[in-house]
Amino acid sequence: MISLKVVHLKVRNTMFNFILFGPPGSGKGTQSEKLVSKYVLKHLSTGDLLRTEIQKQSYLGLEAKKIMDKGELVPDEVVIGIISTALKANSESNGFLFDGFPRTEAQAIALDELLLQHQTAIDVVLALKVNEEELVKRLLHRGITSGRTDDLNEEVVRARITEYHKKTSVVADYYNQFGKVVYVKGEGSVDEIFNNLTHEIDKRKTKVM
Ligand code: AP5
Repeated sequence: MISLKVVHLKVRNTMFNFILFGPPGSGKGTQSEKLVSKYVLKHLSTGDLLRTEIQKQSYLGLEAKKIMDKGELVPDEVVIGIISTALKANSESNGFLFDGFPRTEAQAIALDELLLQHQTAIDVVLALKVNEEELVKRLLHRGITSGRTDDLNEEVVRARITEYHKKTSVVADYYNQFGKVVYVKGEGSVDEIFNNLTHEIDKRKTKVM
């Protein structure tokens, strides 16, 4: 089997794929909307895909909701299955912006393997940095109006941040071994952060879009 290190170094990538990484409330969803519009990419947010399942009241959605409402992570095999289906359904796209995925090292390895099946790979991981009290403030503020049940109380919001430190922050270490992580300040105005992100993307984007 080809090693994942070789995948990162050698795949001849005709798409531009990146991960918008960061803790809950760091602005991944907000910035993703603007970035996919600018670069004409397919936005794949596992949080949004799970919430669609909840709205449909599918078995998967109802099971996921119980976990999401506690601020914990849905099992790897569930989200990897969702992403695998979405990649197949969008194989003609210019590239993918992954938001909220991968969230564990197992998910990162699975993503590399799935992208390899499509002869492509991750180009860069843009990691938003925001201090914890700002994250809590943003999420509780959104909870007043969003209807998101995982934004409603501070205990669940802090549990999501704890889950991020325990299981997700290691994903940056995984991509760091391939030199693919760039840290971007996630505080300031939405437009300032967007400009900093596009600056980093434009430096790396050598493909035609
Ligand atoms: P998910 O939907 O991914 O939520 P999250 O990571 O907790 O992220 P948020 O949507 O809360 O924050 P964000 O970084 O997107 O920030 P946003 O732009 O929205 O996941 C939810 C749950 O699903 C998880 O807890 C888990 O259970 C499950 N799940 C999802 N993916 C999974 C996976 N791969 N594996 C396992 N389980 C998974 O902004 C937040 C707020 O801040 C908004 O109100 C926004 O308006 C505001 N804001 C944004 N930018 C700024 C700014 N610059 N200044 C001030 N306010 C700002």
